[in-house]
This record gives sequence, structure tokens and C-alpha cells, in this order.
Amino acid sequence: MMPEEKTKAKIKKSRYGPYTEEVIKHFRNPNNMGEIEDADSVAKVGSPICGDELWVYLKIDKNENNEFYIKDIKFQSFGCAAAVATGSMITELAKGKTLKEALKITRHNVNGALGGLPKIKVHCSLLSTDALYEAIYKFYKKQGIEIPPELEEIHKKIEKGTAIARIKQESGEDYC
Ligand code: FES
Repeated sequence: MMPEEKTKAKIKKSRYGPYTEEVIKHFRNPNNMGEIEDADSVAKVGSPICGDELWVYLKIDKNENNEFYIKDIKFQSFGCAAAVATGSMITELAKGKTLKEALKITRHNVNGALGGLPKIKVHCSLLSTDALYEAIYKFYKKQGIEIPPELEEIHKKIEKGTAIARIKQESGEDYC
């Protein structure tokens, strides 16, 4: 579950300086942006680095194998260009996947699919995967499904990170 990939995505040079063509494409025309009104699970995460936020909405159903899968997914971002692009990409990668498969999507997968992010923006991609993991966590909780230990661990870290971001916002500090 959620293996750390050792290989880093090679950033392809583009006319947009530090951003790849793929990042700019998803930033300008994000896929699946918005809300799902009757979502089965909704999660919001905040970045402890910059205070930006990303929401993920999931519509979940069962497939022919009686496994829960992501029938629909949308995101909203209150963040930078990289946050919008990674939010868009996570919806592409997760849509149609079973929840177990979706939990295997890493930020390296997201960054790789975008052709890489500048080093200073890598933290932005965490929002997309954390929001997805958290939405799945909340769904499992709601359904009374046993939470895998790795997901419980991630949930604790996300909660801590979100709290830090909120504290920073309330204190009015400048960051990013
Ligand atoms: S998400 Fe905050 S700087 Fe990118």
C-alpha cells in the first residue's frame, strides 16, 4: 500500500520555465473541478507549508466484484498553479479505481504524470494525495470498515498538518 517510489520524475523543459506543458494544461483547463453535491465522502486538507487547501469529493459505488470503487471524483483547490494541476491529475488517476487501488496512488505518480514539478512546488502535490486518502478514510469510517494501519497513520499526520495550517492562517502569518 502506497509504496514510496525511489525514482524521481524527470522534469521536462518547457516554455513555461519551471512548469511543464502538462502542468500548465491542467492548471488552465482542470479536469473534474467542482463539487459533488451528494458525495459519499468529502475531505479537505491544508498544507502546513503554505496554508493552501484542497477538497476532494467522492461518489462511491460497488463494482461487479462487489468492491467499492470511485464512480466519480471532483476537487476544489484554494492553492497555487501546482495545487490545481495536481488536483486535476489525481482525479484522472483515481477515477474508476477501487478504493484499494486508489490508496496505492502516490504523489510520485501524480508528479510523474505531470512531467514533474519544480522542487519548491513538490509539497503542493501532497495536498492531492492526502485529500484522496482522507476522503477514503472518512468513507471507511462511515461504513464501519476496518481502517488499514497505514491509512490510520497517514490520517494522523494529515490531521496534524491541517491543524498547523489552520493555526498559521489564524495568526495571519505570511507564507508562500
Ligand atoms: S499548494 Fe500552496 S504553494 Fe502550492
